[in-house]
Amino acid sequence: MALNLNPISTPFQCRKFSSSSIPQMRSLRSPKVFMASTLSSSSPKEAESLKKPFSPPREVHVQVTHSMPPEKIEIFKSLEGWAEQNILTLLKPVEKCWQPQDFLPDPASDGFYDQVKELRERAKEIPDDYYVVLVGDMITEEALPTYQTMLNTLDGVRDETGASPTPWSIWTRAWTAEENRHGDLLNKYLYLSGRVDMKSIEKTIQYLIGSGMDPRTENNPYLGFIYTSFQERATFVCHGNTARLAKELGDIKLAQICGIIAADEKRHETAYTKIVEKLYEIDPDGTVQAFADMMRKKISMPAHLMYDGRDDSLFDHFSAVAQRLGVYTARDYADILEFLVGRWKVKELTGLSPEGRKAQEYVCHLPPRIRRLEERAQARAKQGPPIPFSWIYDRQVKL
Ligand SMILES: [Fe+2]
Ligand SMILES: [Fe+2]
Repeated sequence: MALNLNPISTPFQCRKFSSSSIPQMRSLRSPKVFMASTLSSSSPKEAESLKKPFSPPREVHVQVTHSMPPEKIEIFKSLEGWAEQNILTLLKPVEKCWQPQDFLPDPASDGFYDQVKELRERAKEIPDDYYVVLVGDMITEEALPTYQTMLNTLDGVRDETGASPTPWSIWTRAWTAEENRHGDLLNKYLYLSGRVDMKSIEKTIQYLIGSGMDPRTENNPYLGFIYTSFQERATFVCHGNTARLAKELGDIKLAQICGIIAADEKRHETAYTKIVEKLYEIDPDGTVQAFADMMRKKISMPAHLMYDGRDDSLFDHFSAVAQRLGVYTARDYADILEFLVGRWKVKELTGLSPEGRKAQEYVCHLPPRIRRLEERAQARAKQGPPIPFSWIYDRQVKL
């Protein structure tokens, strides 16, 4: 939910190409017209045998790969012992973890139907706009295969086999396993609530996983861990706010569900920010430049390629509702950035190269700039018409 700050609403820019030479890099619908004309020129029999290949509804056409100088891979190799001692210790043993079932009616108990009835009574009191945001959050969590893939694109830390024993790989798999509980819990809760169109939601998840994501981290673990630091904090903020709203609406059990997920996100944020803190210690110049690079490109949200088969601006619509409800706002984006600048003591970095100093200045001045731009955008913003969301049977919600 990056509002106006995500690359889908601002043209992609890429530092390896001059902006005038880059072809259109916004995510585009697949060229279906081309396919149709190919088919019409063949005989009916040929046409039958020419099966239309599957193409995702959202594609990112120009991407930068392997931007980290290969010699820096050694840094991540040399940090394996440190990661074992400092990062793997932030994982919780499975036996001590909560599981979705701890927060859901027990299907094996006699009281199951009563518990479901009670859950549905509570759910009736929650407004549609809240459900739109909760569904969007759940869909984002459910696209987890994409995020594990993303981590495994990163040079020097990827899981080379699928069961690699390096601390980086152990972290990625266990992180994924912890995260898997988030989508699972929200999905089951929403299914039982009876308030949402599960088939439309399931279609959106399938489309989203099929489209993937492009966080523009370029196989570069500096960029990758800065991105995940930002994202874990962003999801902590989102789930924390849906918990707060559920409490205000009188649904303590739903508040607990969102709150327990937010707590996981916080622990994950601690891990990723610690990795980046270590990179600042070893390579302050490279790390501050990576931070500035990521912020110049803007942090795109993981579900930025979201589509339900119908609404071409689904992600923007969902983001607008999240912004209006105060679940995730442009102000949060600026706050997260400011938090990270403080967390990594960016202002205090010394001995930087001229490029490093430029990057330092850029990120330190960015939060107030974002806030000013946002205030101006808010002042100009006109209220649009309410939009039907397929996730809630086309009931309309104000943006
Ligand atoms: Fe999560
Ligand atoms: Fe997370």
